[in-house]
Amino acid sequence: VVDIRKLYGQTGLFTYDPGFTSTASCDSALTYIDGDQGVLLHRGYPIGQLAEHSSYMEVCYLLLNGELPNKAELEDFNRTITRHTMVHEQLSSFYKGFRRDAHPMAVMCGVVGALSAFYHDSTDIADPLHRKISSHRLIAKIPTIAAMAYKYTVGQPFVYPDNKLSYTGNFLKMTFGVPAEEYEVIPAVERAMDRIFILHADHEQNASTSTVRLAGSSGANPFACMAAGIACLWGPAHGGANEAALNMLREIGTPDRIPHYIERAKDKNDPFRLMGFGHRVYKNYDPRATVMQKTVREVFEALKVTDPVFETAMRLEEIALNDPYFIEKKLFPNVDFYSGIILSAIGFPTTMFTVLFALARTVGWVAQWNEMISDPGQKIGRPRQLYTGPTQRDYVPIEQR
Ligand code: ACO
Repeated sequence: VVDIRKLYGQTGLFTYDPGFTSTASCDSALTYIDGDQGVLLHRGYPIGQLAEHSSYMEVCYLLLNGELPNKAELEDFNRTITRHTMVHEQLSSFYKGFRRDAHPMAVMCGVVGALSAFYHDSTDIADPLHRKISSHRLIAKIPTIAAMAYKYTVGQPFVYPDNKLSYTGNFLKMTFGVPAEEYEVIPAVERAMDRIFILHADHEQNASTSTVRLAGSSGANPFACMAAGIACLWGPAHGGANEAALNMLREIGTPDRIPHYIERAKDKNDPFRLMGFGHRVYKNYDPRATVMQKTVREVFEALKVTDPVFETAMRLEEIALNDPYFIEKKLFPNVDFYSGIILSAIGFPTTMFTVLFALARTVGWVAQWNEMISDPGQKIGRPRQLYTGPTQRDYVPIEQR
């Protein structure tokens, strides 16, 4: 706590908390994390139970509405989301403006932001019905937009949504269908993908969610706010970590090379970090990593494939968890450590990993944004700073400098 009177000659106190390590920016009834115990609850339900027994659509409903749906409510919600899966045909021209080797996250930032130019009719944020429609539009269209980003970068034709399929099955078909008519969804892969979506659905006030809230606090429309969230998620310390984790595991290659990388991660003069390890809030095993590890085995079995990188990952985890450095700093595998191995087995290139994270997190962003806008006490987010520049001085004409 800093006495700003000493700094500014003003009255009042403010907290100086770089990185917001101990500052709550809002209250929220969506997601609870106990980082010391490794607990994650959505509206009170443990993530392990949701991943095991629920579906992504059910979790979306839960996050948006506060309760699990009954059968009729879930069917109705599915119908609503399905009705909005198409994007305006003109949106496809946006893709053509990007270089074909563009990173799909760059494409996502642009195309999702562009939605506000297509759906003016749902940008009246003061009206709860408009907020609901734009929320449904975002959740429904994001798989279509993500699959189109993939198709564009691999040079294949876009595949239109198949509304007879599940949310996740449809996404898989739009992504991997070549030709689309012949694509058959493998139930175990559909289930694994759906589970990955559940595991990424929300995670309270992480950097991208805080970005969405901050952008939304000015009254910006939800499509613009989501684009801001996607941009923030792209960073390697956040959503980009799953791409970085798999790249790191492939670079390590074989278990005998692990000690060298462990030593590098401990060396303060080396910027290298174990990607997929450590978390701002979890000082225990990330409960999502436990489910991810189990899902790797299920996907390998269903696809009858294996990847030596999984063995390297498990050995790395074992060595790190027994190393005094990682024990003392409470660094455990996070959600990103194993997810890349599954996504790679399913056939996604590493550049798509963060896109999948953005797809799944859209519901969390939307639910958090709705929660904030519905709060009658909501204010524009406006952090203060600790000024360290020069004190007041007089302007010097250029000839005298
Ligand atoms: N490898 C080696 N050392 C690490 C690692 C790591 N992965 N993570 C943290 N540390 C060390 C830091 O060097 C620091 O040491 P010090 O106290 O001696 O300076 C200490 O542990 C604390 O780390 P901070 O960076 O201060 O912790 P913070 O809470 O700010 O960072 C973060 C959390 C960004 C996730 C960090 O652990 C990291 O960079 N991990 C790798 C990237 C990653 O996996 N990100 C995904 C996060 S989960 C998500 O976004 C879904």
